[in-house]
Amino acid sequence: MASKFVFIASTMLVILSSTAFAQKTASPPSLSPTPAPAPAPDYVNLTDLLSVAGPFHTFLDYLVSTKVIDTLQNQANNTEEGVTIFVPKDKAFADQKKPSLTNLTNDQLKQVLLFHALPHYYSLAEFTNLSKSSPISTMAGGQYTLNFTDDSGTVHISTGWSHTKVSSSVHSTDPVAVYQVDKVFIPEAIFGTDIPPTPAPAPAPDIAPVADGPTADDNKAKSPTSTLSGKSASFRISSWGIWSQLALAVSGGLALMFL
Ligand SMILES: *[C@@H]1O[C@H](CO)[C@@H](O)[C@H](O)[C@H]1NC(C)=O
Ligand SMILES: *[C@@H]1O[C@H](CO)[C@@H](O)[C@H](O)[C@H]1NC(C)=O
Ligand SMILES: *[C@@H]1O[C@H](CO)[C@@H](O)[C@H](O)[C@H]1NC(C)=O
Ligand SMILES: *[C@@H]1O[C@H](CO)[C@@H](O)[C@H](O)[C@H]1NC(C)=O
Ligand SMILES: *[C@@H]1O[C@H](CO)[C@@H](O)[C@H](O)[C@H]1NC(C)=O
Repeated sequence: MASKFVFIASTMLVILSSTAFAQKTASPPSLSPTPAPAPAPDYVNLTDLLSVAGPFHTFLDYLVSTKVIDTLQNQANNTEEGVTIFVPKDKAFADQKKPSLTNLTNDQLKQVLLFHALPHYYSLAEFTNLSKSSPISTMAGGQYTLNFTDDSGTVHISTGWSHTKVSSSVHSTDPVAVYQVDKVFIPEAIFGTDIPPTPAPAPAPDIAPVADGPTADDNKAKSPTSTLSGKSASFRISSWGIWSQLALAVSGGLALMFL
């Protein structure tokens, strides 16, 4: 019995290692670390994307009225770099009272909108690195910077005036990332650094589970599946392949037992 078991185990090892070897050699000798690039990078129409998700109507209306939508769409069309856009919900604009956006000039409003975008595609996983190199320049220019901190998978963003987090991943496929945020980003480059002190202590409410408000969106953002859509799918397929081969190996071993 013991020797049979050893035989089965070694048979499985041989089959498994040969399939692992086959998989290694079968994959093309690509230098790119990203597995299985999508056949053709799908063109993402940002207007369409933002009008169905959200509600992001306020942000989209601002983008259209200032024509910043063209700048962002142009960046989204650039598949080399791509774009990352942080989109405040309509409620965030309704709640934005302290420094009001109403008296901004058209140029200032454009800058505020471009302040919500980075000229590169970043998956949520890449924000761990971005937090190490904060402050990060936005599409509004060098003085318009965002600070990122990664808190066990949740991306926090600070502008000095605004402290918020990515509450949902709306779209994250290279070259276009659109993340929902809970507040409008207020730039110091326009509103100055004379920021009124916030009375609420920052870290405490985040730890209490109930104080964090509705968490359905938060959980979505934290879940690893929303961060690695394409990659995890192909990983799942290849690991399924290994398990099916393992099952074949076991049944093969069992068949040998009866010879
Ligand atoms: C994006 O979609 C909008 C609304 O459907 C349409 O008006 C616009 O022409 C599209 N833009 C491009 C660049 O295809
Ligand atoms: C983006 O690409 C689409 C599809 O190729 C094109 O119709 C559109 O005019 C481009 N938009 C901009 C702003 O470059
Ligand atoms: C905006 O400008 C108007 C007229 O100049 C002024 O009355 C109002 O107080 C300003 N609002 C803010 C928030 O600065
Ligand atoms: C983070 O940076 C390191 C070193 O620069 C790099 O090796 C790693 O791939 C980066 N991780 C992500 C998720 O971009
Ligand atoms: C952003 O990070 C830099 C460097 O860590 C720091 O000096 C700066 O005060 C931060 N700004 C904000 C608004 O958190």
